[in-house]
Amino acid sequence: DRGTLLAGRHLLVTSGPTHEPIDPVRYLANRSSGKQGHAIAAAAAAAGARVTLISGPVTLADPPGVTVMRIETAREMLAAVEAALPADIAVFAAAVADWRPATFGDEKIKKGPEGPPPLALTENPDILATIAHRQQGRPPLVVGFAAETTDVIAHARAKIARKGCDLIVANDVSAATGVMGGDRNAVHLIGRDGSLESWPTLAKDEVARRLVARLAELAPSP
Ligand code: C5P
Repeated sequence: DRGTLLAGRHLLVTSGPTHEPIDPVRYLANRSSGKQGHAIAAAAAAAGARVTLISGPVTLADPPGVTVMRIETAREMLAAVEAALPADIAVFAAAVADWRPATFGDEKIKKGPEGPPPLALTENPDILATIAHRQQGRPPLVVGFAAETTDVIAHARAKIARKGCDLIVANDVSAATGVMGGDRNAVHLIGRDGSLESWPTLAKDEVARRLVARLAELAPSP
C-alpha cells in the first residue's frame, strides 16, 4: 500500500534555489524551479511520512500535508535543516548557490563614474556534506543530487564519496535536456557501492514516486 510505505518516518527535503544578496535589491541565484524537490516532498507525504520541506524562493504551491520552511540563503537553509533534525531520511534536492557575495551592505550599490563594482565571492557551506559527515544525529539515509552537464555518472560517483551520502540521484541538466525548470527528468541512481541504475525520462512526479518507494526499501526500520 503506497499510502503507508513511509509511515512513522520523518523525511526532510531541501528544494529550489538559494538567493544570495548583493545589496538590498539584488541577488545571485540559479535556474532551479524546485519542481523535483517539491514533488519528492509531496510523494513522501502521500506515502505516509511526516515531511519537512526546506525551500528556497520558488513559485510553487506548498505540497499538501507537508511542513514548509521558506528560506532565502544557503546559510539560512543549513540552519533550517539543522533545526528540522532528527530525520530518518534526508534528501538534498536544492540547487544551493556555491558562492555568495563576500560583503553585503544595507544600501543599494549606486551606479557611478568609477564603473561597475567588483563582485568578490566567498564559499557557501555545503549543506549535504555537513549533514552527511555529522558524527551525531546523521540521518540514517542521506540522499544527494548531482546536476551535471558532462560526464554525469563519473562526476556523481566522485561526488558520493566526497559528500559522504548514501545515494546520489544524478541528472543531466544541459540546456538541451530541458530538465532545469521543465516537468520531466532522466535520472541515474548511484549507490555507495558504485551501483548504477538508470531510469528512463519520466515526469518529475513519477521520478518522485519511484524514488520514495526506493527510499522506503533502503531506510532502516523506524
Ligand atoms: O557539489 P554539487 O553542488 O554538485 O552537489 C550537489 C548536491 O549537494 C545536491 O544534493 C545539493 O543539494 C547539495 N549541496 C548542498 N549545499 C551546497 C551545494 C550543494 O547541500 N552548498
